[in-house]
Amino acid sequence: MKMHKIAAIGGDGIGVEVVNACLTVLDALAARDGQFGFNVTSFDWSTDRYKRTGEFMPMDGAAQLRAFDAVLFGAVGAPDVPDHLTLWGLRLAICQPLDMYANVRPTRMLPGITSPLRGVERDELDWVIVRENSEGEYAGQGGRSHIGLPIEVATDVSIFTRVGVERIIRFAFKLAQARPRKLLTVVTKSNAQRHGMVLWDEIAAKVAQDFPDVTWDKMLVDAMTVRMVMQPQSLDTIVATNLHADILSDLAAALSGSIGVAPTANLNPEGDAPSMFEPIHGSAFDITGKGVANPVATFWTAAMMLDHLGEAPAAARLMAAIETVTANPALHTPDLGGTASTQMVTDAVIAALRGKND
Ligand code: IPM
Ligand code: MG
Repeated sequence: MKMHKIAAIGGDGIGVEVVNACLTVLDALAARDGQFGFNVTSFDWSTDRYKRTGEFMPMDGAAQLRAFDAVLFGAVGAPDVPDHLTLWGLRLAICQPLDMYANVRPTRMLPGITSPLRGVERDELDWVIVRENSEGEYAGQGGRSHIGLPIEVATDVSIFTRVGVERIIRFAFKLAQARPRKLLTVVTKSNAQRHGMVLWDEIAAKVAQDFPDVTWDKMLVDAMTVRMVMQPQSLDTIVATNLHADILSDLAAALSGSIGVAPTANLNPEGDAPSMFEPIHGSAFDITGKGVANPVATFWTAAMMLDHLGEAPAAARLMAAIETVTANPALHTPDLGGTASTQMVTDAVIAALRGKND
């Protein structure tokens, strides 16, 4: 039997709740299938750990993760620790050294979930946003001088390298090519940001020559928000910088009905380090401990993880079970306007999985 080694990092807040729920679903899936299993190691890396020891994870944390086939991550962030410390202390401290440069964010309207967009049919919003995940505005370059003085200065420098831009644009063209519509939109702000973003435009035009069967166009990020709302049908695969895609993917999640269902994969496409799978929503301390977090985003990201691990049929089975459950409004958590609990949704997905092969 093929065993997949999974590192589970619940992190903070509802991250722990949804990762635990997801592990029970993965167990049920493996038990049902019988061809593969999961060897899960759980890590307590979190803000709690930071408060106790001064570190979110051990110094060699990222290196420890190399021993795994994939990482399942919940969320990091707490109300009483500045967000830039939690982000750089855990999530980016994993993604950057393991070079998970392709962040993939699919958006669809799942059955039973209503979009705030009027008159848009379910099959008219089916996007994948590819977020550059290693440099750009999140490169970490910059600093502060003359702190506290009237002449204080702070800089955040965006870094765009030819290697970094080319590899993400090539990844996006390949992904677009593998999807039925073969349609890619390259998002920049190359009118105002006249260096790095112009480099993106140039590299996109060059890489496009290797993908003659992909139809592609360019959008400025501000106009892109209008197009996502007014003409969602005109989009399929989208590639953008780290920050632009961060913002666009929140808009995409809202347009699909709830951030509670939006998944993401931080991929190391070459596979020289594990990839990391997580829900897009954060730690949501306002609902932590209440048992009402929507686990669907984590289940969906687990389906992406299964695909990545080469278990495509299991991924499809899990996705089908998720969609059976979302189709039933009685199984919607409060973020979707319902009253269901995390446990009810989890049990229902497991029941749907069991039903599938009967
Ligand atoms: C995301 C999140 C993070 C980001 C936050 C939590 C720092 O918004 O994954 O989209 O900006 O990358
Ligand atoms: Mg975000």
